Amino acid sequence: MKKTKLKLRKEVYYVFAGVVFIIVGIILGINYYNDSLYKKTMEYQFIQKGYSLDDFHLLKEKLKEEDLPKILEKDKNENIILLVQEKYFLMKNLDLYLEYMEKEEKDRKDVVAIVNVHANKNWYENTEKTDTSLKEKILVNKFYSLEKDYTPENLTFIPLEQAYGNYKDNALVDYAYDHFMNLWNDAKKDGFHFMVNTSYRDYNSQQEIYENIKKNRGEKEADSEAARPGHSEHQTGLVVDMTSLDAKVDEDFKDSEAYHWLKQNAYKYGFIERYPEGKTYITGYNPESWHWRYVGIDAATTCYKENITYDEYYAYYIES
Ligand code: DAL
Ligand code: ZN
Repeated sequence: MKKTKLKLRKEVYYVFAGVVFIIVGIILGINYYNDSLYKKTMEYQFIQKGYSLDDFHLLKEKLKEEDLPKILEKDKNENIILLVQEKYFLMKNLDLYLEYMEKEEKDRKDVVAIVNVHANKNWYENTEKTDTSLKEKILVNKFYSLEKDYTPENLTFIPLEQAYGNYKDNALVDYAYDHFMNLWNDAKKDGFHFMVNTSYRDYNSQQEIYENIKKNRGEKEADSEAARPGHSEHQTGLVVDMTSLDAKVDEDFKDSEAYHWLKQNAYKYGFIERYPEGKTYITGYNPESWHWRYVGIDAATTCYKENITYDEYYAYYIES
């Protein structure tokens, strides 16, 4: 009887040990399985690269999923973490940002803006023909150009109450004209009388203007004031150079109340100040308080609210 009890206890012990063994085995197996799965995750791979968990979460939040492996292909770089936090960061430009940051000591925000608008290259280097199907959203600058024979459709002449010179000296594309007239009428109600000095210009007139400045004051001066032919927004028929009737010289205009009115209100009619103060490194031109470009109310409102030039707007909202 005693012997059977002892035998039975031994068997229970074996069964118990067997069950424990199986359970431990299962737990170890699951852990191993989980571990090998974890090693396949992006999180693990980023941490192996030297990024922190916070860095990884930030990259995941800011980038598209398909872009994460592209970051893993590169050496760990703290600048990537800083760059992705910039509002206008574009993944397609990441290598160019990093390259530019190595060469130039610039604010990250500026690096992103400069590279986005191609100003990391020399002006007029590797230029491209612009997409004219974009209508009022066309971008013309030192990088994007118009064909020599590009002439906008439906040019409408600006009456002499609104423009200097002779009738038919000044014209805008019809839809820009309508918005300009709305602006003009509302400004008049507020006590400002705007006058257009120049608006649509063809390729040849632009060439004459540019060459004239170049001959008298040299290429550097010419390039900071006038566009080379084919690179002027005036050829789009979407631009007015305007001052108020009482401003005798263009340069005085920037200190006037009329200019202040335009700065506060022009976007409501789809116009933007195209070459603002402090943005020469983006536009390539000295500030021009008189040069107002029609881009449509939506784009003008974004440029105004976000305080960006049209070059920056185009790079971020259209080109990408
Ligand atoms: N003055 C501007 C930049 C032009 O020539 O188009
Ligand atoms: Zn102009």
